[in-house]
Amino acid sequence: MAKYRIAWMPGDGVGNDVMEAARIVLDRMKFDADYAPCDIGWKFWCTEGNALPDRTVKALKDTTCALFGAITSKPQDKAKEELSPELKGKGLSYFSPIVGLRQLFHLHTNMRPCKSYRGNPLNYRGNQITNPSGEDVPIDQVVFRENTEGMYGGVEFFPLPESVFTALCTNPKMKKFQAKGLENIALSTRIMTVQGCTNICKEAFEHAKKTGRKRVTLVEKPNVLRETGGLMMRCFRDVAKNYPDIWADEVNIDAICMWMFKNPQDYSVLVAENMFGDIVSDLCAGLVGGLGFAPSANLGDNYAVFEPTHGSAPKYAGQYKVNPIAMLLTVKLMFDWLNETERAKRLESAIARVIKEGKVRTYDMGGNASTLDVAKAIADYAG
Ligand code: IPM
Ligand code: MG
Repeated sequence: MAKYRIAWMPGDGVGNDVMEAARIVLDRMKFDADYAPCDIGWKFWCTEGNALPDRTVKALKDTTCALFGAITSKPQDKAKEELSPELKGKGLSYFSPIVGLRQLFHLHTNMRPCKSYRGNPLNYRGNQITNPSGEDVPIDQVVFRENTEGMYGGVEFFPLPESVFTALCTNPKMKKFQAKGLENIALSTRIMTVQGCTNICKEAFEHAKKTGRKRVTLVEKPNVLRETGGLMMRCFRDVAKNYPDIWADEVNIDAICMWMFKNPQDYSVLVAENMFGDIVSDLCAGLVGGLGFAPSANLGDNYAVFEPTHGSAPKYAGQYKVNPIAMLLTVKLMFDWLNETERAKRLESAIARVIKEGKVRTYDMGGNASTLDVAKAIADYAG
């Protein structure tokens, strides 16, 4: 029997292309695992009315962790339109299966490292980020995104139910909405808990401590989102007290979009609730070459799902054009989580070497190599 059993979930679009790339590297590195293919994605929404079938949830329970490719998500109207005829009109509503997985398996922490690897032509300002003494400073950030609560918690209404409306009307600010009529009001909630906020802050500070990082920045907006943002801010400050050697600072989501653009090398660990973490992690990815370089790990206490931050890019599906580096960096995160530390290092060095040499590049990096060519070049150094 193999040492690990990995759930294998290519999902939609280019998910399959990049997972094939991952497999080339895993096999060359003689990773001791069985792979359990699992159904997930748009196809299953259309044919079964569920993008995350129950059999998949069941199968995942027998695995060590999961590798995931990409997912297609479309707005509710479009989703309903694409349902197969026999499922239409049954009141089914689409819910993103990756968001579902995060909630079902209580994968509370989404960790998203963004590093500028030397020689990547897509790095922000082409690697020319210097400190005041003129030295080249790489970008090296890790976003800790709360993964189950906040704006993406899934508690939403349209039209607004009478009971919810009545409860909300105890707030005088509801006055201006009252006359519009229930049928004209949509509501998405931002529910945050002391437990959720404290946990993500702890994860961020623990990571900083473990990896010798000196700064943890909270990304919020407590001046406007007074209750939820305020709660996160208090939890952050409470947790920070236990890490006196780490600089804990707070920046608003809008301001960080500006500061990060000006001085990206200043930031190290960033911590945020679900939606702000989603936003800021795309921003960080943009600084190091885009989503082709952005891995992510959805971490729970005993289970984890590893996925590149990018989407399914349907127009490139099956063409083996897209950059597999985000997926391969994701495999590196999986090795870290499994305490396969030597393998993790070997894989990251191989990726860095291929980027630096610049001989094998996908189209986004100005080359014409395929997804699998890049994987093979990396496998040659990692294997
Ligand atoms: C991400 C993506 C997902 C998210 C979408 C596809 C549901 O944007 O992982 O960042 O918002 O979490
Ligand atoms: Mg996102």
